[in-house]
Amino acid sequence: MTELKPARILAIETSCDETAAAVLENGRELLASVVASQMEIHARYGGVFPEVASRQHVLSITPVVEQVLAQAHLTLNDIDAVAVTQGPGLAGSLVVGMNMAKGLAMGMGKPLIGVNHLEGHLYSAWVYDSGEIVPPEPQFPLMALLVSGGHTELNLMTDHLTYQRLGSTMDDAAGEAFDKVARLLELSYPGGPSIQKAAEEGDPNRFQFARSWMEGTWNFSFSGLKTSVLYQVRELQKKQTNLPVADLAASFQQAVVDVLFKKTMMAAREFGAKEILVAGGVSANRPLRQTFKAQTEFPVHIPPLALCTDNAAMIAAAGYHRYALGHVSGLEMDVLPTWPLS
Ligand code: KG4
Ligand code: ZN
Repeated sequence: MTELKPARILAIETSCDETAAAVLENGRELLASVVASQMEIHARYGGVFPEVASRQHVLSITPVVEQVLAQAHLTLNDIDAVAVTQGPGLAGSLVVGMNMAKGLAMGMGKPLIGVNHLEGHLYSAWVYDSGEIVPPEPQFPLMALLVSGGHTELNLMTDHLTYQRLGSTMDDAAGEAFDKVARLLELSYPGGPSIQKAAEEGDPNRFQFARSWMEGTWNFSFSGLKTSVLYQVRELQKKQTNLPVADLAASFQQAVVDVLFKKTMMAAREFGAKEILVAGGVSANRPLRQTFKAQTEFPVHIPPLALCTDNAAMIAAAGYHRYALGHVSGLEMDVLPTWPLS
């Protein structure tokens, strides 16, 4: 692999409901990361309220950037470039981070780099905390499963920034299915962690929920599974007052994990991948992590929990590779609320 030029990147991420900033050295070493979560505010509404999210970003963005520089014991003069999430995401949220990044880049006379949020999620697997033993770098060709609240995709990465998108969800994203089923079971937002917690006490084999294999493709579908949970809930409600929430949550979670794991393994074999990468909010799911880690056929890279959900360290890592290749954006850069990876 060619040596990349050393660089210290300040990154900003405001695509949804986290206001985040990070400073990363040479694409991997995390000097500081701050994530101001709006989760408690949106929990009242049972999901992200876009207008409230952008206003909250306006309030948080300056303190978050100041805090990350203080944590890294650096000033703006020590930064080589500013990376920012350009999309996909909520337009009103993205624009707050984008304008902050533009202001900083212009004020410092430093390059500005627009980063795809999904690319960022994949690059979270390269990041490690400063002072930690350096973990092995993911090796190409890499089978990358991206599972977030808005996306579920299988991408073959043959090199840095090079993606062959093999398939994606035809309806709900995996995280979206967790969120919707949580609402159905009257569990709190965000649904992923609530379902995982409820499932700890449950029997994953009590209900055999529909698994969509989307045979002959690398696509996914989770809406049938969601409907099958809904029908089961209605059926149970006819007979009993107390729902077996733990068993329902565990059986649903098991169905999602089964499909994600088996399809990724099949794709890794089929495309001759050397290693597997799993990233995005749903990669925080404990049974999913345990299932991937227990297999021994492929080395598997899953980011530490703090880097699974939205953060700016991942934007800095992807931004570093874009910067190294000279992919610098102008100040006229616009937000891209929908921006597929490939
Ligand atoms: O990547 P992310 O923070 O935001 C997007 O880019 O969408 O992912 C958020 C999603 C939510 O749907 C949330 O319910 C899910 O990730 N999630 C989880 C877990 N933690 C977060 N899903 C399953 N198990 C978890 N532990
Ligand atoms: Zn995300």
